[in-house]
Amino acid sequence: MNPEDLKRMAAEKAVEFVEDGMTVGLGTGSTAYYAIKAVGRLVDQGYDLECVATSLQTERIARESGIDVMDMNSVENVDLTIDGADEVDPSLHLIKGLGGALLREKIVAAATEMEIIVVDSSKLVQKLGTRSPLPVEVLIFGSDHTAARLKALGCDPVLRTKEGEAFITDGGNLIYDCHFQDGIGHPFHMESKINTIAGVVDNGLFLDVAKKVVVAHQDRLEILDKPPA
Ligand code: A5P
Repeated sequence: MNPEDLKRMAAEKAVEFVEDGMTVGLGTGSTAYYAIKAVGRLVDQGYDLECVATSLQTERIARESGIDVMDMNSVENVDLTIDGADEVDPSLHLIKGLGGALLREKIVAAATEMEIIVVDSSKLVQKLGTRSPLPVEVLIFGSDHTAARLKALGCDPVLRTKEGEAFITDGGNLIYDCHFQDGIGHPFHMESKINTIAGVVDNGLFLDVAKKVVVAHQDRLEILDKPPA
């Protein structure tokens, strides 16, 4: 099966959890794209859904798919969000943000009751930070200083660029992709260390956020549930 089919299958499986009347968070990225399209089909069928988007790109795709997108401040909570991830570890902790939308994704996830992550099996890792760098969103002001403090945590922070220019997030910030040579041994500790650096807006560690992960393997779909605490 080709990679696009795997993404589509995982995303469409997750959309089976959407019920009429729900408030739904729409994720960002090439896997979440298929979920947005499937949610659009539910709306076509008459489902009454309130939807919020985790990025401007998702908002545009959703509107093109016939979905009304609400302002995040106009919903009280989100019943279910379907989003992608860059890494998933055995405890269902995640790295997200290679698509640049980690901040809005985290805000929507924080308001969400059931966060469902959709990935193909290449995203499964034993240890976070071994397959993907950790994206960290940083204010433009003083960003060289912020990057130096990130480096002092033992990673190599690389400024993300697009077409030769610094990549700017939907929030108007920069992203440093932080490469950890041996991965991230203590993700909760690292998360708090990073987020106490002045100038850091947020980072791509999503710990204890996913309730379910739908994994597309070459020959089957697998649903992983958050292990009990
Ligand atoms: C967007 O900022 C990211 O968190 C994406 O959800 C993540 O990068 C996964 O994207 P793909 O499904 O395109 O791999």
